[in-house]
Amino acid sequence: MSPLADSPLALAAGLGWLAPLLALGALLAAAPAQAREISLPLPDLQGRVPLEQVLNARRTQREFSARGLSLAQLGQLAWAAYGVTATRQGLGLKTVPSAGARYPLDIYLVVGEQAVAGVEAGCYRYLPASHSLAVVKPGDQRQALAGASWRQMWMAQAPLSLVIAAQYRRCTERYGNRGVMYTHMEAGHAAQNIFLQAEALGLKAGIVGAFDNPLLSQALGLPEDHEPLLAMPVGYTR
Ligand SMILES: Cc1cc2nc3c(=O)[nH]c(=O)nc-3n(C[C@H](O)[C@H](O)[C@H](O)COP(=O)(O)O)c2cc1C
Repeated sequence: MSPLADSPLALAAGLGWLAPLLALGALLAAAPAQAREISLPLPDLQGRVPLEQVLNARRTQREFSARGLSLAQLGQLAWAAYGVTATRQGLGLKTVPSAGARYPLDIYLVVGEQAVAGVEAGCYRYLPASHSLAVVKPGDQRQALAGASWRQMWMAQAPLSLVIAAQYRRCTERYGNRGVMYTHMEAGHAAQNIFLQAEALGLKAGIVGAFDNPLLSQALGLPEDHEPLLAMPVGYTR
């Protein structure tokens, strides 16, 4: 029997039936961070690195050290990619422009084992409105990500990869086939933001478009109608 079955609260009220509910609540409270939404630290809006410097330094990085990242760094990268910066008529406007403000992209984050302080290994989805993460698939998926990317195994060294995915219909339902092109353009904006933010944080980013879409989607547990477009490993250089 659950230790909570005879908890003072349940017994005092003669509410024995409450005990299983209390036990469930205690179980949920004790669940690992993966089971809940993870709030991210608010983004730093006062970077001290000149834009021209990060533009000049940006390069595709293919070697990473094993050094981990902080939750603030992860949050800053996710915000740069697709964070909310203003509200217009109840709609969150983001760090990237979007045709008709349809925002057809989603940012997934592939976190390695002991790679980001306070975050268990897994694939997470960035929730821009609440600036938080929701778990999609637990466990270290970095090898699977690299394997699905035609075995570009260097990707698995990075503590974190951001994967830009599209749900085309958010854009095509207004713009038809042209919405596909608009979605790809938007992915480019998000990717460049990730590159530049990584540089400004003293990190480096890579960019990968060569992968087997179904294999990558399966590896990360992406929803069926979310098409992966770009994967961007991020970390410190070796
Ligand atoms: C859409 C796209 C897809 C890319 N895919 C890969 C890839 O799969 N693997 C890789 O190592 N680099 C990839 N790259 C990086 C390019 O090779 C790189 O940007 C180019 O060589 C110029 O180098 P730089 O980014 O360091 O300036 C990709 C770049 C873009 C824009």
